[in-house]
Amino acid sequence: MSDADARVQAQQQAQQQAKEEAGRHAAGYVTDGMKVGLGTGSTVHWTIVELGERALDIICTATSVQTHELATSLGLRVISPDEIGSLDIAIDGADEVDPAFNLTKGGGAAHTREKIIASMSPRFIVVVDESKIVEALGPFGTPLEVLDFAPGVVTSAVLALGAHSVTTRERRSDNGNLVMDAQFGSIADPVALGAALWAVPGIVEHGIFPGAMVERIVVAGTAGVHELVNDQR
Ligand code: A5P
Repeated sequence: MSDADARVQAQQQAQQQAKEEAGRHAAGYVTDGMKVGLGTGSTVHWTIVELGERALDIICTATSVQTHELATSLGLRVISPDEIGSLDIAIDGADEVDPAFNLTKGGGAAHTREKIIASMSPRFIVVVDESKIVEALGPFGTPLEVLDFAPGVVTSAVLALGAHSVTTRERRSDNGNLVMDAQFGSIADPVALGAALWAVPGIVEHGIFPGAMVERIVVAGTAGVHELVNDQR
């Protein structure tokens, strides 16, 4: 293996370890009797594993088929959002976090269900490795879940909002809809862009989560785990 390959491998291992540390740390916010929203992705995966290991007396709802299967395989009780009704806490990953706690989500195409579950909880805790912290949202792209009726019309509308490109993923969402990624470059006002995207007929949901939804970010990296707490809520 070349030195460069070894460095990349070491970086990837460190990132995986950080994801596990952040994910497991956030499980500490869950106690017996809680109703818990479970996010989707490789970081919150470890929150779910930790909750399974602790065998707490909790009821959960899941943001994706993948998470539902993982949680039930670990012995957690998972019911639908309508059955659970409200939540005490929701925990999820993110693809980007800006200084105002705005998030990009949807790398795993689960952002519509994730936004519903996060909106059901007074406490929304986000778990990330430090590579997800950015100065401004945008480099990751903005995921869009789109009704498969007039995707060309939706694409034109998104380009008219300032996107440089819009691409469609091969895989659909768990809801059976198309998933697109729009590249806006650096996003100056994520909340305003989110509102503009909501106004496009055919967009089921976009992957911008306003910072007002977020209680805290659990960040793990080379220096260990720390938390960013949103005092502005
Ligand atoms: C799922 O659609 C996403 O919103 C994930 O929460 C996000 O992509 C974070 O995933 P990782 O924890 O795997 O990086």
